[in-house]
Amino acid sequence: PSFTVIVPAAGVGKRMLADRPKQYLKIGHKTVLEHTLEKLISHPRITRIIVALDPQDPYFDELPISQADWITRVDGGKERADSVLAGLTALDSHSWVAVHDAARPCVSLSDLDKLFRLFENNQGGGILAMPVKDTMKRAQSEDSKRVSNTVDRDGLWHALTPQFFPLAQLRQALSEALEQNVTITDEASAMEWAGWPVNLVEGSERNIKITRPDDLTLATFYISQEEL
Ligand code: CTP
Ligand code: MG
Repeated sequence: PSFTVIVPAAGVGKRMLADRPKQYLKIGHKTVLEHTLEKLISHPRITRIIVALDPQDPYFDELPISQADWITRVDGGKERADSVLAGLTALDSHSWVAVHDAARPCVSLSDLDKLFRLFENNQGGGILAMPVKDTMKRAQSEDSKRVSNTVDRDGLWHALTPQFFPLAQLRQALSEALEQNVTITDEASAMEWAGWPVNLVEGSERNIKITRPDDLTLATFYISQEEL
């Protein structure tokens, strides 16, 4: 089977402190968004990509890739989850769907293979994730700089993307969670809230989300290595 990927790309990239949203910053001669979209479409099982963009986005149409027949553009929303739901709503009947951050251009084809195996496993959907490595501390309160205790790291994972689920389940879980004002930071959190299984698929630590300036430096290094 082939899969559609929804790419939320409607954020402003506040933490990047750049003159434009981070998905339009360059790695080599292409933007982050182009790297992400081209990586995804190069996977043999991915045949269509829905990109959620700021309705006033002035950059996307300038990209050569914007005319590609495998891309559908939808208007993103206020939060990431709203942008993803807009993408899900644009899909009619597709069995499973993956959601992947525009800001993660370093995802590997082999990690995508690993994740897509969930489709055959009959154990539900899941996410790429990485076991936590550092010792984890909990502060006494949200703005406190004093340690309350050490959190047991065993069984703690970083949630990455893509996140890959049956479309009908994800659409319902996400729209109901948003209606009820549940805090949703990724697709999996909506699925957990709705009681569906979420599997962890260990992925590469190169699959970083470009969030702050140093992340762009690191992503540029990883991508230059891929191109060797
Ligand atoms: N995103 C989106 N719609 C929003 C907010 C975010 O489609 N309303 C997208 C971003 O474009 C990004 C992904 O979701 O590809 C992950 O979000 P994040 O890393 O937080 O990006 P930004 O929100 O743009 O960055 P910041 O939080 O620093 O402003
Ligand atoms: Mg954000």
